[in-house]
Amino acid sequence: MWEYTDKVRDHFFNPRNVGEIDDADGVGEVGSLACGDALKLMFKLDESGRIKDAKFKTFGCASAIATSSVLTEIIKGMTIEDAAKVTNKDIADYLGGLPEQKMHCSVMGREALEAAIENYRTGGKKKHQLEGKVVCNCFGVTDLEIERVIRENGLSTVDDVTNYCKAGGGCGGCKGEIEKIIERIVPERAGAAAVRKPVKGHRLTNIQKIQLVQQTINEQVRPALKAHGGDIELIDVEGNKVIVAFRGMCAQCLTAEFTMKDVVEARLREFVDEEMFVEEDKESANEPHEHKG
Ligand code: FES
Repeated sequence: MWEYTDKVRDHFFNPRNVGEIDDADGVGEVGSLACGDALKLMFKLDESGRIKDAKFKTFGCASAIATSSVLTEIIKGMTIEDAAKVTNKDIADYLGGLPEQKMHCSVMGREALEAAIENYRTGGKKKHQLEGKVVCNCFGVTDLEIERVIRENGLSTVDDVTNYCKAGGGCGGCKGEIEKIIERIVPERAGAAAVRKPVKGHRLTNIQKIQLVQQTINEQVRPALKAHGGDIELIDVEGNKVIVAFRGMCAQCLTAEFTMKDVVEARLREFVDEEMFVEEDKESANEPHEHKG
């Protein structure tokens, strides 16, 4: 028996936006019945280019239904550009987490969204195609998909990879290949981690500092804001001053300044430099194209 959060249970027992949109602007279909999970995601845009309606049909377990349902809720009101930035981690975070063995459902949601956006951008002409070389024949997973789940979710074992994209979960014949991909990527990550622990008294170069600020915002701040319909964008770094703009719900939020001072600034001081401080770029934050409706 899996341990599900209340939010997963809610979206499983009361799934939102089930069905089809007859004149959808974007349609994405991923997975297959043979592999046990399949998802069809559709969206319709309004005149300003925001997603006004999203619907899904899925064949799968409770997690597949809950992730598909919550995904339609997440993307409603977003521009295509913002929707394209939604990650599988965002979907899982929005649900308050998923059992590790079910994380592949969040990956399937992200893939369906990407397929639907691709379908929209190519005027409905292009159907989603797997990129890369197929490594796992049992589940039709490519090397590029495996690399991506490893990088985006910080995975380090074959079992992790199986949990996130099913590769390796059938006959097991591809496990050696998955192991090789992990061996190639994990040392790269270790190198990046080394950069993100500045030794006291060691001065970062400007480029290192900007990279570290961006990485810290992406990993430590954005997931929490996105879970509440907001976002943050790094505008500039001038010495220890970091200029950011809040997006989506955060642009209207009265507690944004509190968020900025207490969360963003604290994270930057912890991970980059104890003297970092944050200022908001109000002008940029009010740009209408970035605002979530
Ligand atoms: S080829 Fe990957 S599990 Fe069978």
